[in-house]
Amino acid sequence: MSHFDSGPTLVMGARGSIGTFVLNALREQGLSVRASARKPQPGQFPTDIEVFAADLGDPASLHSAFASMRQVFLYAHHGSPHGVIAAARAAGVDKIVLMSSGSVIHPTSAGNTITEEHRAIENAFAAASGLTVVPVRPLVLATNALNWAWPIKAGNTVALYKPDALTAPIHESDVAAVAVAALTENTSPQVSGLLTGPVRLSQRDQVAAIAAATGKDITVTELSRHEASAQFSRFMPADEAEAVLQFLDDADAGNSPATDTVTQVTGRPATGFDIWAADHAADF
Ligand SMILES: NC(=O)c1ccc[n+]([C@@H]2O[C@H](COP(=O)([O-])OP(=O)(O)OC[C@H]3O[C@@H](n4cnc5c(N)ncnc54)[C@H](OP(=O)(O)O)[C@@H]3O)[C@@H](O)[C@H]2O)c1
Repeated sequence: MSHFDSGPTLVMGARGSIGTFVLNALREQGLSVRASARKPQPGQFPTDIEVFAADLGDPASLHSAFASMRQVFLYAHHGSPHGVIAAARAAGVDKIVLMSSGSVIHPTSAGNTITEEHRAIENAFAAASGLTVVPVRPLVLATNALNWAWPIKAGNTVALYKPDALTAPIHESDVAAVAVAALTENTSPQVSGLLTGPVRLSQRDQVAAIAAATGKDITVTELSRHEASAQFSRFMPADEAEAVLQFLDDADAGNSPATDTVTQVTGRPATGFDIWAADHAADF
């Protein structure tokens, strides 16, 4: 696939799991890139690129990072995008590739708190005149399974809500490949289509794939909704915990699809969960 250089690109959140792949892919194509994190530390980034401290929640911190950039990859961040939009305009940025969520275009996710937060951010960016904004919309990230790393390490048991709910988790490298297409190709509407992994599989089968990749014998137990709510609420605000439960209820009702958007955008199949598990075996 041929690529053209659409100008210098800032990758914000360049240490994030998707952002890391975006940065590396742009560098591998020999394109002009710059990286940012809220608190970059020495040794975190390649030495041959510029690195900036930049926080989407602090528009004043964006000016240096945005200066002379034509494009910015950034994560949908809870808070007002207006300062970000103003900083992008002031710097002459042409395009923002916005790491958003497929739930925004997935009908049965409407009303969910996490969905509506992403929708509000997308809408604010979409209303910004003079900027091309391209949302990237994965529905379920395979990296959610990293939440099971601690119980697997601790005792080879995972307690799941709706263990037989089917989803098609997407590898972070595939999300990044679509974001890179949005940054380097003449964009088709497909880059903002619903992004998923290649096939649906249950949470139980995801655990089995992790067991196969790690050689561990992992047991699954089932949580009631009440138990799962209590467990999730230890790690996130109550409304987000409820939103995660709603995503799982929706998946359990058969509503979480597999799409071929990754193939349409990249020309190759999406990566299977077995490969994801092998890539992350050391995390478990
Ligand atoms: N979980 C799912 O199934 C799912 C589904 C659909 C969409 N999503 C979206 O995907 C995202 C997760 O992507 P990921 O796995 O790549 O996340 P990740 O590894 O947690 O990385 C998130 C990145 O966001 C950056 N960030 C956070 N707050 C910021 C701020 N105020 N200013 C600038 N940068 C900031 C962080 O940069 P620093 O280095 O500065 O910390 C970090 O690099 C979710 O937040 C959600 O929006 C998730």
